[in-house]
Amino acid sequence: MLTLQAQRELQHADLVLGFKTVLYVVKPWLADAEVRPMTYRDQEEVLEYAGTQAQQGKRCVVCCWGDLNVSASELLARVRRRAGKVKLVPGISSVQVAMARSGISLEDAVFITLHKRAEDDDLAEAVHYLKERRRHVIMLPRPFDLMPAGIAKGLLDAGVSGDLPVKVYQELSLDDEVRWGGTLKECSELAQEFSDLSILVFLSGKTPVTEPKP
Ligand SMILES: C[S@@+](CC[C@H](N)C(=O)[O-])C[C@H]1O[C@@H](n2cnc3c(N)ncnc32)[C@H](O)[C@@H]1O
Repeated sequence: MLTLQAQRELQHADLVLGFKTVLYVVKPWLADAEVRPMTYRDQEEVLEYAGTQAQQGKRCVVCCWGDLNVSASELLARVRRRAGKVKLVPGISSVQVAMARSGISLEDAVFITLHKRAEDDDLAEAVHYLKERRRHVIMLPRPFDLMPAGIAKGLLDAGVSGDLPVKVYQELSLDDEVRWGGTLKECSELAQEFSDLSILVFLSGKTPVTEPKP
């Protein structure tokens, strides 16, 4: 799912940075670049270093999962604070892959990310759309306090129908991809834990065309 343009940027990079798990995926396309993994704790220092390298004319590539215009604005803002010029290279988002797996179209769906700072009523927007039942809801959970079972419980408590079809996809397009499907009620009772690389699709709009099994 890495685009040809992204591969080219990586091949010509002097410095490549990103969270460790992301760097693991792009590693086969690196040539001679210096590689700097970062964590949530040291990302400011690593990005600061990249900023100084960029000022010296080095080609720095910051990698993120999927597409950087989907729920990655905090990282993007941190990069922008350090770099005068940032070129955005679009990627294939987990949202697009989830839509392909569940057979839905973006125009029939709304996207909600919980992958951000906690708010008073995180689920309010989803409750609104799911009760309306006009659009599917594609949702990123919040590792690890607002994950599929907890989200489903919250939605049920807020009055969303228990028979609503739900899909959970983990590690989409990677070697260990996992797919789960059931009702909202079944999702709320799930003992199965999902990793931080998981996405939910609530099928509440027009009937989707389910993709045949690969
Ligand atoms: C900070 S957001 C960034 C989203 C990313 N920019 C994208 O376009 O997919 C990270 C979240 O995206 C979701 N995600 C990213 N890659 C995924 C994958 N391969 N499979 C399932 N979910 C994924 C997970 O919910 C993860 O916690």
